[in-house]
Amino acid sequence: MNIFTEKKQIQNYLKPLKNKRFSIGFVPTMGALHQGHLSLVKEALQHNDYVVVSIFVNPTQFDNATDLKNYPRTLERDTELLETLSGNLVIYAPEVSDLYGDNAKSEQFNFDGLEFEMEGRFRQGHFDGVGTIVKRLFEIVLPDHAYFGQKDFQQLAIIKKLVEKHKLPLTVHGCPIHREENGLALSSRNERLKSDYKEAAPFIYKTLKDAKKQFGTKSAKTVTEWVEKEFRNHDLLKLEYFIIADEDTLKTVNRKSETKTYRAFIAVYADDIRLIDNIALN
Ligand code: PAJ
Repeated sequence: MNIFTEKKQIQNYLKPLKNKRFSIGFVPTMGALHQGHLSLVKEALQHNDYVVVSIFVNPTQFDNATDLKNYPRTLERDTELLETLSGNLVIYAPEVSDLYGDNAKSEQFNFDGLEFEMEGRFRQGHFDGVGTIVKRLFEIVLPDHAYFGQKDFQQLAIIKKLVEKHKLPLTVHGCPIHREENGLALSSRNERLKSDYKEAAPFIYKTLKDAKKQFGTKSAKTVTEWVEKEFRNHDLLKLEYFIIADEDTLKTVNRKSETKTYRAFIAVYADDIRLIDNIALN
């Protein structure tokens, strides 16, 4: 498999393909790939002539230096996993300097308020970092289609907003959350869970499913208080937030409306590992 480490190389590779009007699909990742990532790549391969997977641990989206340092970097294994898929697939795995020069700083974005909710509230500067890197990657790869997971639903909404606001010529696709059999959403961070936390972690999705059931008859406030209580009573998992929000604005729901779609979002600490998940409520 071709692995490019410099933007010039990948641009040279893609240019003749674009000239021949082949469609280019793009899946940005930070590596430590799992079946969740692969589901996006498979979707991209199904609908495009060529697919680029970027593997880059983006420093500007981390608000925590330890988290950045501990983020798993497993390029060799990632390549092997991608090689199990058939199709025209290439990897772009640059160094920080290829994308940022010697100044790894975020640009500032206005995502019409989406950036101030949930992850934006709890991870300072996170979405400026995501916006900066994804815009840069889009400008290098110039994909026709880009694929993002609903696992990071707020990120998906923000990327759609980025594309709309900057009039970028591509379509963004959201793909379903891939889970372990026990319900735990796949994440590169799961690998770092110690065994008792790994056993406890499926409680997150179980609670989301129970919350969904309750939301049929109860108010958002009542369901939220119930979830908060469930986690107060939990020995290992610490709730950072649980929010029932309008899918379009990502703002917390006060009064339910028949015409809106809602989603529940959760962030939990399992020891020092932060896990997020969400579930559609309608
Ligand atoms: P990363 O966490 O590696 O995720 C890459 C893509 O895989 C994202 O679109 C994410 O939503 C999706 N993904 C992760 N786990 C998933 C799962 N269990 N099911 C379905 N999709 C899943 O998200 C990032 O990287 C970065 O912020 C990035 C967009 C690459 C910018 O640096």
